[in-house]
Amino acid sequence: MFERAKWITAGEDFKESLPSFRKKLICKGAVKKATAFMTAFGVYDFFIDGQKVGNRLMAPGWTYYTKWIQYQEYDITELLKGEHTLSVTVAPGWAAGFIGHNRRKLDPYPGPYGIHHTSMVAEIEVEYADGTKETVLSDESWDIYTTETLYCQLYDGLRVDYTREPRFVGKAQNTQCPVPEVLPQKGENVVERETILPQKLILTPKGERVIDFGQNLAGYLEIRAKGNFGDKLAFSYGEVLDRDGNFYNDNYRDAKNETTYILDGKERVLKPSFTFQGFRYVRVDEYPGELDLNDFSARVIYSDMKRVGDFSCGNEKLNQLYSNMIWSMRGNYIDVPTDCPQRNERLGWTGDAQVFCRTAALNYDVKRFFRKWLYDMGRNQGEDGAVFGVIPTLGFYTAKISTAWGDAATVCPWEMYRAYGDKDFLRDCYPMMKKWVEYMHAFGEDEFLWVGGRHYGDWLAMDAGEDYYVGATQTDLIASAYFAYSVSLTVRAGKVLGEDTKELEALYQNVRRSFREAFMEKGLPKVYPKADGLAENREKTIQMDRPVKDVTQTAILLILHFGLCEEDEKAVLVDKLVELIEDFDGRMSTGFVGTPLILRVLSDNGRADVAFDLLLQEKNPSWFFSVDHGATTIWEHWDSQKEDGSFWSTAMNSFNHYAYGSVYDWMFGDMVGLTVCDDGAGYERVTYRPHTDPRIGFARASLETCRGTLAASWRYLEDGTVRYELTLPESTTALVTLPGHSTKTLRGGSYVFYSK
Ligand code: BGC
Repeated sequence: MFERAKWITAGEDFKESLPSFRKKLICKGAVKKATAFMTAFGVYDFFIDGQKVGNRLMAPGWTYYTKWIQYQEYDITELLKGEHTLSVTVAPGWAAGFIGHNRRKLDPYPGPYGIHHTSMVAEIEVEYADGTKETVLSDESWDIYTTETLYCQLYDGLRVDYTREPRFVGKAQNTQCPVPEVLPQKGENVVERETILPQKLILTPKGERVIDFGQNLAGYLEIRAKGNFGDKLAFSYGEVLDRDGNFYNDNYRDAKNETTYILDGKERVLKPSFTFQGFRYVRVDEYPGELDLNDFSARVIYSDMKRVGDFSCGNEKLNQLYSNMIWSMRGNYIDVPTDCPQRNERLGWTGDAQVFCRTAALNYDVKRFFRKWLYDMGRNQGEDGAVFGVIPTLGFYTAKISTAWGDAATVCPWEMYRAYGDKDFLRDCYPMMKKWVEYMHAFGEDEFLWVGGRHYGDWLAMDAGEDYYVGATQTDLIASAYFAYSVSLTVRAGKVLGEDTKELEALYQNVRRSFREAFMEKGLPKVYPKADGLAENREKTIQMDRPVKDVTQTAILLILHFGLCEEDEKAVLVDKLVELIEDFDGRMSTGFVGTPLILRVLSDNGRADVAFDLLLQEKNPSWFFSVDHGATTIWEHWDSQKEDGSFWSTAMNSFNHYAYGSVYDWMFGDMVGLTVCDDGAGYERVTYRPHTDPRIGFARASLETCRGTLAASWRYLEDGTVRYELTLPESTTALVTLPGHSTKTLRGGSYVFYSK
C-alpha cells in the first residue's frame, strides 16, 4: 500500500490552525466501486464535500510509530457521483502531539517518535462502470487550507474559531520523515458510544457554574449552540468536586483539558475532534446568554467492542462497584488499554492492563483490541526481550522494566487464549512470551531469580503507610515470583501449540526451587532487612525508603496463587494471611500486584468468608470506600479521596483507573462461580463452583462466549436454602461443585440446584 502515494505535510512552519489537505476528484462516469486508503502521523478525519466519512475517531490509532502504523480503508462508492472535494484534517494526536510528562517544555518539541509535524498519505481507487480505473494519490498537487480549529492537543483540548473562513495557503510538501511499515488496521475503531445527559447545573460556593453529568467518563461535551458572531464559549473539565463543593481538576497535572469555541452566528452542534476529556463535571467558563441544560450532552467514546457480559446482585453497592468497573474500562479502552483518560498520561501501562485483562474479557469482546496491542508490544520488545512499562512506548517510559508490568507479555496472551481459544493468536504471541522469559533469565547474577532492577512493586499498596507509591512487599520477591509465573504460562502456551517445552519446564523447576530457597523460610515468606531484598547495590525505586513489613499479604498471595508452596504449607500461609488481614483491622493492605489475587486466594483456600468480608468492607482501604464516597468509576488509589474529604497529592491521582476493578474477575469466577479451564479454552470446559453470602441475597452473571450464552445465578430463599441456576452453551462442559452435592460433569443446557 502507498507505494506510489507521497507522505505530505503543510510544513513545520504552518502553525495557524490544523491543516486540511484537499484534492478535487471529478468522476469520469458512473462509479462501480471506490475505496479510499489513508493514514497520518497525527490523528485525522476524512471528508468528502465537507461531510465526514464514517464514524471512526482518532484514526489511525496509536502504535509504535517508529516501527509501524495502521492505515484505514473506506468504502466510498455511494458517495461519488460527479465533482467532489476530498479533504483530510490532521491534528497532532499521539504521533506529533504532547504526550507524556514534561516533554512540552522542549522547544522545538520533538514529538515522542521524533515526528515534528503532522503529515498524511492517501490512495483513492475508483473503478468506473465501464471498467476503467482511476487512482488519486497524495502528492504535492494537494492544496493546504486552514481550518477553524486553531489549536488541538490530546491533553489540552482545543480552540475553534468559526469566524475564520478556511482559506488556501499553498501546496502540500513532501514530508522528509522516515516512514515506518504501514499495515491494515488491526484494532477496533474508536467511536462514540453512550450519550449522557446532564443531571444538574450547580452553582458552586465560589460562584462558578458547573454542569454535573452524574457519571465520570471519557469522551467530550456536545453543545447545541446559538449565538452572535464573535460570541465565545469556554469549558473546563473535572472528575470530582473538592470537599467544599468547588470545581477541582488539579489532578490533571499540566493537561489543560479546555475547549473553546467562537461562534459565527450560525446555529451549530459543537464537539471536539481529535481530543477527549476524562470528566464528570464541566465548568462553564464563558457562555453567551441563558444556559439551557437541554443543549448539552456528553458523548462517551471508546473502542467499538461488543458488550458480552453482565452482572447484577442484591447488594446495591456491589452493583455500583460493577458499574464503576465498566465505566473505567470504557474510559480506558480507547484504542490502547490506558491507565487513565484525563491527566497528562493516558498511556498503555502494561501492569494495569495485565491485571485487568481477564475482567475486560468477561464484559466486552476484547480479542481484536488486544490483538493489536499485543502485536504492538511485540514490535516494541527490546532485542534482549525487555518489555517496557508502557506500550506503545515513548522515550522516557522505556527506562524502567518492571516485574508485573513486563509480565503483560505472558499474562495477556494467555488470558486471551483462555477467553477465545484462538491458537493462532497465541502462536503469534509465543515468541514474545519466550523472549520476555529469556530477559528475566538473563538478568543479574542468579539466573533463576530476578534480583535487583527497578520495579514498581506492589504499586500503591497501603502497607507501607499512606502516601507511598510502592507497598511494603520486597520487590525482589515479587519479581522472582512473577518470573516463575511467566515461565509457567509460557510452558502452558508451548504445550497448547505443540512446542517442545522441556527447557522451559526445567527452567520453571529451577526458578521455583530458587524462589523457595531465597524467599521462603519455615513455610512463610522470608524477610530481608533491606527494603530491596537481596539486591546489594541497585538503583532506588520510587519511595524506596518505605517501611518494609515482616511478611506482607501480597507476599503470601503470590506464593499461594503462583503455586510456589507445597500442598502441606498452604494451611500455615492461609492462616497467616487471615491474621495479617485481621491485624489490619479486617482490611487488605494490597496494591496493584496483590489486590487482583486476594479474594481468589482466600476462596480457593477455604476462606470465602473472609473474601466476602473484604468485598463488603467499607473502611478504607476497600472497594466500598470509594462507592460510599460517590465514585462512579474506579479510583487509582484506595484513598484518592481521604476520610476527611481531602485528596491524594496532585502528583498522581486519577479517579478513573481500572486496576482495582479487576475484582470482577473474582465476582464472576468465584462468587457467581464460572471459570474457564486452562485445558478448555474458549469456554469448551468450565468449572462451576459458586460461593454465596446471605448479605448479597442473590447474584447473577452472564457471558456471551464464542459458543453461546454462559450464565449462572444464585439466590437465598426465605427458608435460607440457596437456589442455583446454570446455563451452559450446547458445546460447553462444566465440572460442577456445589455444597452438599457430589461433584459432577454436565454438558449444554439449563440446570437448577438447591443447597442441601
Ligand atoms: C500510572 C499507573 C502505572 C504506574 C507505574 C502511573 O503513573 O498511572 O497506573 O502503572 O505509573 O507504576
